Amino acid sequence: MFQTDKEIIVRINELRAERNAVILAHNYELGEVQDIADFAGDSLELSQKAAETDADVIVFCGVKFMAETANLLSPDKTVLLPVAEAGCDMADMADAEGLRKLKAEHPGAIVACYVNSTAEVKAESDICVTSSNALAMINSLPEDREIIFVPDMNLGRYCMEQTGRKMILWEGFCPVHVRITADQIKRRKAEYPNAQVLMHPESSKESIDLADYALSTGGILKHARESSCKEFIIATEIGIMHRLQQENPDKKFIAASEQAVCPAMKLIRLQDVLTSLETMETKVVVPEEIAERAKRPIVRMLEETAKLSK
Ligand code: 13P
Ligand code: SF4
Repeated sequence: MFQTDKEIIVRINELRAERNAVILAHNYELGEVQDIADFAGDSLELSQKAAETDADVIVFCGVKFMAETANLLSPDKTVLLPVAEAGCDMADMADAEGLRKLKAEHPGAIVACYVNSTAEVKAESDICVTSSNALAMINSLPEDREIIFVPDMNLGRYCMEQTGRKMILWEGFCPVHVRITADQIKRRKAEYPNAQVLMHPESSKESIDLADYALSTGGILKHARESSCKEFIIATEIGIMHRLQQENPDKKFIAASEQAVCPAMKLIRLQDVLTSLETMETKVVVPEEIAERAKRPIVRMLEETAKLSK
C-alpha cells in the first residue's frame, strides 16, 4: 500500500513505462490527475491523441464515452477507464431506439451526434462533432438535407444560430452547464467589468448571449493564453481552472459558478490511476456488433477536421 501522493506517482511512472501506457486526461479532471497525464485536453484533442498513439495501453481519465471513442479509434490497444462508473449524464439522455424512431419520422435526414453520446447512438449517426469543431462540421453538410442533432439541444441551438442551418434537436442537455445562469453571469460582469466572458456552448442560450466567446475547453485554454486581456469569467466546469491558472499565472480567472461541478469528472483520483495500471481494469470495449458503425461518424469527423486544418 502506498501512503503519499509522491509514492503513488513514482509507482504510476514505473507501471506507465513497464506497460507502455499513455495517460490521457480531460480538462475537467482533478488537478492531480491532469498533472500526471501525458496529455490533458478537450474531447477532440483527446480523440486525436487516442487515434495516433503508439502506446499499448491508454489510461483514459475522463468519462465513459471518451474511453469508448478511444477504443473505437484504437481497437488493438487496451483502453482503461480507472473508475467504471464515470459516465456523462447528457450522453445517457439519448438512446438508439428513440433516435431510430426520430430518423423514421425524417427519412433522408443526416444525423449529427455530439461526441458526448453512447456508442449505440453513434452507431445510428452519420457524423460526429465536438464542441471545438461543431460549426465547421455542420457547415460541411449538404444544404439540401435535413439535419437531426443529438443529444445536446443547447449546443444544437447554438450551431443553428451560428450556421443558419435549421436542425431537428434532441432535447438533451448538460446538467452541469445549465446550472450556470444568466443572472450569475450578469452579477460576475458587474463585479469584474473588464473581464471577458469565456463560455462553453453547452450552456443555455440566455447565458451564451452574455458571453464574449463560446468555446470548447481547449478553445478556452487557447484563448486565455493568447489574449492580451488579463481577467476572464470562466463559464464552464470548474476543473478547467487548474490549467488556466497554471498556464497563466499573471492572469485572473473567475469561476462564473462554483456549482458548475461535474461529479463524474471528479471520480478518478491518483490512487485509481495506479490501481487501474496494476489490475489493467476497467477495460472499455465497444461490442463488436456496433463498433464498426459507431466508428464511422468519428472517423468522418477526424477526416473533415484534418481537411479543414490544411
Ligand atoms: P470539450 O470537448 O469542450 O472538452 O467538452 C467536453 C465536455 O464534456 C463538456 O461538458
Ligand atoms: Fe457530461 Fe456535462 Fe459532465 Fe461534460 S460536464 S461530462 S457534458 S455531464
